[in-house]
Amino acid sequence: MDSSSLLARAVDATLDRSVVLGYTSIGSGVRRKFWPADPAPGSLVGKRVLVTGATSGIGEAMARSFLDLGATVHLLGRNPDKVADYARDLRLEVPNADIVEEVCDLSDLDAVRAFSTDLAGRVDALHGLVHNAGVMPPERVESAQGHEMALAAHVLGPHLMTHLLRERLTAGPGSVVWMSSGGMYGSGLRTRDDADIEYRRGEYKGVQAYARTKRMQVVLADAWATELAGTGVKVESMHPGWVRTPGVTESLPTFNKVLGKVLREPEDGADTAVWLVATRPTSEHQHFWHDRAQRPTTFGWQRQQDPDLRARLLEYVATVTATPRLR
Ligand SMILES: NC(=O)c1ccc[n+]([C@@H]2O[C@H](COP(=O)([O-])OP(=O)(O)OC[C@H]3O[C@@H](n4cnc5c(N)ncnc54)[C@H](OP(=O)(O)O)[C@@H]3O)[C@@H](O)[C@H]2O)c1
Repeated sequence: MDSSSLLARAVDATLDRSVVLGYTSIGSGVRRKFWPADPAPGSLVGKRVLVTGATSGIGEAMARSFLDLGATVHLLGRNPDKVADYARDLRLEVPNADIVEEVCDLSDLDAVRAFSTDLAGRVDALHGLVHNAGVMPPERVESAQGHEMALAAHVLGPHLMTHLLRERLTAGPGSVVWMSSGGMYGSGLRTRDDADIEYRRGEYKGVQAYARTKRMQVVLADAWATELAGTGVKVESMHPGWVRTPGVTESLPTFNKVLGKVLREPEDGADTAVWLVATRPTSEHQHFWHDRAQRPTTFGWQRQQDPDLRARLLEYVATVTATPRLR
């Protein structure tokens, strides 16, 4: 490795460990000078990508970036009016935009089953599926099937969708990206000493539930990568850094106030997902990315992943979604 690459790696690692520098617009601003090349213009012409949570923040920006690269973009939101409004805006902004409007509440497993089965009947192949939708409920609320909301929207719904779209992804072959969060570094699969997956016991804390389900996404993405190895389908997870979006201003107003000036713009937060789908880089064990580079999923001072908790999670997800258990 030459000296400039070594320097770039050292700067990158320093930004990552400092957290505040790395996760804000400062991190992407510096890394942009040495990160891998942008996707080629037109690299997604003839390709089809589904973006969930495309009616706000990072998902909105991501949809535009995919359209700019020539993809047909399926814009998925839970609110039909928001989907229609944003699709109309995009059609005005992006010449020849090929947009398909999709409505599905990802926390509702019946809705996910109906939507995914319908989509599989409408398309031959899917080249990208970005599980971007996210929530941070302030108190414990339940989905249509009685699951805790963050678990349902971040984990159960996206898992079931991946399972039901598997053949279309294989036909792509596609890339699946799980939009996790740097918040997952602060959580294992267990919250404090409690491995209660549905948060039925003890005091519910939205930030903890959010972080733990974001950790679950990283674990699931890795399990899906193993499951789909050899099919051509790539499965990754990532975190976007700290991004100025309606989700942040509404759920974390103090955070937004303190870091407002250095928060990333939504297209910056979307960048790595777009790059992963468009360039399909080689990906190794655990498959977790930030700013176009693979990152550790735990640091040395944190407790390493507990294989029993991992097994319990995979078993639980399989049981409640009535899908085969991942390894
Ligand atoms: N912003 C950050 O700094 C940051 C940091 C780390 C990770 N992330 C992750 O990045 C992703 C996008 O975040 P964001 O900041 O752009 O959030 P946002 O502005 O709140 O947007 C979230 C999107 O998800 C949709 N959504 C929520 N629940 C849904 C459900 N049950 N079914 C279908 N769609 C649903 C929302 O729909 P409505 O418009 O109908 O509400 C919205 O389109 C999330 O997964 C988040 O965890 C963000």
